[in-house]
Amino acid sequence: MSKHYQHEVLVIGSGAAGLTLALQLDSSTRVAVICKADVNEGSTYYAQGGIAAVLDDHDSIESHVADTLAAGADLCHADAVNFTVENSRDAINWLVNQGVQFDRNSDQEQTFHLTKEGGHSRRRVIHTADATGRAVSETLTQRALKQDNIEIFTQRVAVDLIMQEGRCQGAYVFDRANDHVDVFQARFVILATGGASKAYLYTSNPDGASGDGIAMAWRAGCRVANLEFNQFHPTCLYHSKAKSFLITEAIRGEGGKLLLPNGERFMERFDERGELAPRDIVARAIDHEMKRLGSDCVYLDISHKSADFLLHHFPTVKTRCFELGIDITRDPIPVVPAAHYTCGGIVVDQHGRTDIDNLYAIGEASFTGLHGANRMASNSLLECMVYGTSAAKHIMQQLASSSAPITAADWDESQVTNSDEDVVISHNWDELRRFMWDYVGIVRTDKRLQRALNRVGLLRQEINEYYSNYKVSNDLIELRNLALVAELIIRSAMTRKESRGLHYTLDYPQTLTEAKDTILTPPIN
Ligand code: FAD
Ligand code: SIN
Repeated sequence: MSKHYQHEVLVIGSGAAGLTLALQLDSSTRVAVICKADVNEGSTYYAQGGIAAVLDDHDSIESHVADTLAAGADLCHADAVNFTVENSRDAINWLVNQGVQFDRNSDQEQTFHLTKEGGHSRRRVIHTADATGRAVSETLTQRALKQDNIEIFTQRVAVDLIMQEGRCQGAYVFDRANDHVDVFQARFVILATGGASKAYLYTSNPDGASGDGIAMAWRAGCRVANLEFNQFHPTCLYHSKAKSFLITEAIRGEGGKLLLPNGERFMERFDERGELAPRDIVARAIDHEMKRLGSDCVYLDISHKSADFLLHHFPTVKTRCFELGIDITRDPIPVVPAAHYTCGGIVVDQHGRTDIDNLYAIGEASFTGLHGANRMASNSLLECMVYGTSAAKHIMQQLASSSAPITAADWDESQVTNSDEDVVISHNWDELRRFMWDYVGIVRTDKRLQRALNRVGLLRQEINEYYSNYKVSNDLIELRNLALVAELIIRSAMTRKESRGLHYTLDYPQTLTEAKDTILTPPIN
């Protein structure tokens, strides 16, 4: 028997997007926030560089908008960019009011220290040293834990959405501690489940970035857009013991240089902005040089800065590198590109509304139109805050007139047994992530995409059969979702017959004059 929970709002995901929304709802609204591991275990917690916002009197909304549009390679939606940037100062003020301690300059006015990252024409990234995500995540979690109206459920994995009378009214949720599936019902459901970069073998993302929200929304009938634009961060630490460790772009913002193994700088050969060109350009240049030279990595050197400066601005990077025998005050850091961010996602409007009534999507899981073909650094946390806020406002306006859901059926386990072959899951998980890396990575071709499509079809068949016969587990839920999202990424990439932003294909190296989104619509069951 499933346990049944009833709330007014169900938020799936406890990152910056989910917690912002939960905290922005009226304090009399009964909210459940569920997350599949511990409350801080999403990409938000690991964010390093900071949050882009117009905070400096010398900066302007027009400049932040223009930089975002340029980085997005003509595919950003201007209304989404304007909306986000116009609300950036309010978003930061709200975080400051929640208690986030951003770094300040040591001047008398105690202004915020702003750093720079790729694509930004000026310093506009507010941060807490190089652990901005941790500051945001811990502060919002503390706030949420103090709110009587918010209940946080950890170690709960949403499996699928509950649809009743054409609207979303909850989700079936796997309880990892007790090994059974419960029913969470609510008048409004929010997917704040983060991205899908775990589809790739090498990624900066924590475990759990398996695109669950995107997959659940697709199965329920939502359109998805621009999934071919998976962003590769140029600089992840290259070390056998460093799983998924990012070397923040702010290091390049503060003067870090990219070097070949022989110590030569190379970025200026690819773009006049050098190390601070947008990410797609830097990642592609590194990939090109590594392949040309047959080298395992390139190097990022910030050793010209004083030890005090590095300790003050980059304590996380400095400490982690030091643990692995790299002293960044002296040694260049070995780096490689890795999958980092899902620019596409579930199609939403300015309130985070999806195609399905009562279902919202916010944060990295969503597609608002902000990022176009390449997200500009530090615009993601901003998007989480701005759309988390606007979705909360919209839900508050609808709540009084909404009706409680009809009680949903229990999760049916009558046809499944315990798995006796978990190796199927681990094998398929590895195979999927490897061919996505090899065939759907930084440089694509029609042939590679076709190979990937053939393989993902076989895998999905096997995974779906397994899913129909065995009880669910966290790994199985993630694998099923990841394989679906991988297929959506491949199909989106095959649809785009040009190179633009993060999507680069040797078969169509030119950029078409007309910039169009890739929108996929699920088949009607
Ligand atoms: P997340 O923070 O990823 O949270 C997802 C939540 O959903 C988690 O709580 C997870 O448990 C839950 N969840 C997922 N699936 C399920 C399910 N099936 N059931 C229940 N719960 C589920 N962006 C910036 O703007 N600035 C930066 O400096 C920056 N640095 C970054 C550094 C790193 C290493 C990484 C990985 C990303 C960085 N980004 C940065 C990107 C940014 O951190 C993310 O895009 C953003 O935090 C996403 O927030 P989110 O709330 O959408 O999702
Ligand atoms: C970084 O610190 O380099 C990550 C910033 C981002 O992904 O926006």
